[in-house]
Amino acid sequence: MTSRSADEVMRLFVSIPGLANQAPESLGERMFEMAVEACAWGIVIQSNERLIYANRAALDCLLLSAAEVPGARLASVFDPDSYATLLPNLSKVSPDDDQLFMGDLKLVRRNGARLDAEVYHAGLGNGASMINFRDVTMVKRLELELRQAQKLESVGRLAAGIAHEINTPIQFIGDSATYLGSAIRELLNVLQSSRAELRRAAEAAGDSEALARLAEEDEVADLEFNEAQAPIAAARIVEGVTRVARIVAAMKAFSHPGFEAASPVDVNKVLADTLIIAGHELKNHVTVSTDFGVLPPFDGFAGDLGQAFLNLIVNGAHAIVDRRGAGGPGTIAISTRGDDDAITIQIADNGCGMPPEVEARLFEPFFTTKEVGRGTGQGLSVVRATIVQKHHGDVTVKSAVGIGTTFTLRLPLRRAA
Ligand SMILES: Nc1ncnc2c1ncn2[C@@H]1O[C@H](COP(=O)(O)OP(=O)(O)OP(=O)(O)O)[C@@H](O)[C@H]1O
Ligand SMILES: [Mg+2]
Repeated sequence: MTSRSADEVMRLFVSIPGLANQAPESLGERMFEMAVEACAWGIVIQSNERLIYANRAALDCLLLSAAEVPGARLASVFDPDSYATLLPNLSKVSPDDDQLFMGDLKLVRRNGARLDAEVYHAGLGNGASMINFRDVTMVKRLELELRQAQKLESVGRLAAGIAHEINTPIQFIGDSATYLGSAIRELLNVLQSSRAELRRAAEAAGDSEALARLAEEDEVADLEFNEAQAPIAAARIVEGVTRVARIVAAMKAFSHPGFEAASPVDVNKVLADTLIIAGHELKNHVTVSTDFGVLPPFDGFAGDLGQAFLNLIVNGAHAIVDRRGAGGPGTIAISTRGDDDAITIQIADNGCGMPPEVEARLFEPFFTTKEVGRGTGQGLSVVRATIVQKHHGDVTVKSAVGIGTTFTLRLPLRRAA
């Protein structure tokens, strides 16, 4: 590394026009100090794991006052794991170790909040070192949101592709099953009447051998049982295939790419499709009641709305599961209403509800009270982005612990300019 002596730095500053005739001894120092103070990166200087100095950016970022810095423990501004990562570098500080650490660490503000920071740690000599950092919390969040959006988009595309592939075979399975059902019924009718005819003829002719043969054939073919069961089996196939076809159609509608221009949306149908998709989450412990009103024509983004409705319905289902010890079944009541100005959608659950401190942070990206794997805290920020940003509407919530939660979404018919 090429380092400059203090004299050299001072000479550089003094070469600034208009400054040359001021007292050179203090000028270099003052200019240097101003440069460090004005630096947009946080700069902290430490010795023996105690803070000596923090520039303006560092104070602002860590919510510290200048008076609190001298002597404060360096560990107090780091998350314990991050401090453990940094610690081995602190002990080997020497003037030659100009770059001791470079990477992402977690810092701790005075109020306890964590922030992600890009950190450089460099030795200054005499057992002191300098930590430069930049708050990258927002950058990390945006990266994560982008990754999540890309994941949703590719999952959506995959779902649309699969739905498309399943659609054709399921249609001909359904058509064939319907045909076979009616063909079996007709064939059975013919079979029954011909065998009755044969029996009558054998009886008239007193042909006991033929009668015994007919009875044996009936027995071997299990005719009575098959006559009763075959039409039922055919009906069951048709019913199952119809159900699969509905799910496939809902998946297709649902995974419709969300970045196209607004187009006419049947909000009631989107909700009904979403309920089919959510079926798995709702099974067993949730009863859903719907009260769909007649809605005015509405232009919007069906795929995004479906995603938002799904997030709310899944949250409701989770809240119902979390309502331990309460009697009665869990219910999610969904209603829609329309007037000249807007469409209003209400999704109400009688789940665990939430305390005011959760309600206050509800729409924050990544805010979750759920364990890893069950929630990422993205659901409601997606809901808000869809309803407020994309559809210029609003979302309100009413919740009471132990009673339940109601989300009300308002989608204006005419978008604000
Ligand atoms: N209907 C509800 N009843 C009770 N609490 C709720 C309800 N909806 C949301 N919450 C609370 O709000 C938090 C944030 O919800 P959000 O949907 O944004 O994230 P999540 O459900 O935790 O995770 P994700 O939706 O990303 O899987 C939840 O963790 C939960 O504590
Ligand atoms: Mg959720």
